[in-house]
Amino acid sequence: MTSRDTPARTAPTEGTRPHPAFSALVGLTSLGVLLQALWAGLFLRQGNDYGRWLSVHQHSAEVTIVLALLATVAAAVWMRHRTPVLAATGALFLLLVVEYFLGRAGNESVGIVVHVPLAMLLMALAVYLPVMARRG
Ligand code: HEM
Repeated sequence: MTSRDTPARTAPTEGTRPHPAFSALVGLTSLGVLLQALWAGLFLRQGNDYGRWLSVHQHSAEVTIVLALLATVAAAVWMRHRTPVLAATGALFLLLVVEYFLGRAGNESVGIVVHVPLAMLLMALAVYLPVMARRG
């Protein structure tokens, strides 16, 4: 297989370059998911401030979900011709909502068994989405 056989990656053109509002909202959503791991690490110390960090974890989740919703709206408005990007952004939003209710089910529930690995999947999706959006 020579370089002649591999399809050249096309640089993002005007039509494929992600809209800046979409990129910013997906970037903030990724940051939100990453911070959820930090807040979880802080409350999992089981220190005196357990309740405070758990509540930060919960409310930061709510902000992250709103950011993912806005990113989905931005994709629908400015990138609806990029169906895979629109679908992946919608999936990120829906999976965050599932993640939220798995977390609200609490430590005793089976939900927490899915909660942490799903958080890893969310992080991967949030990081891959901008790469996918930039690819022509
Ligand atoms: C690596 C990342 C994460 C870890 C290790 C983690 C861990 C946990 C744990 C252990 C709980 C149960 C706490 C308890 O009931 O005592 C919890 C609750 C929760 N998690 Fe996460 N989580 C992570 C990511 C996320 C993400 C991405 C979301 C976003 C939707 C989220 C939303 C929640 C919510 C809403 C609760 C319930 C908080 C409450 O009951 O006040 N978590 N999380």
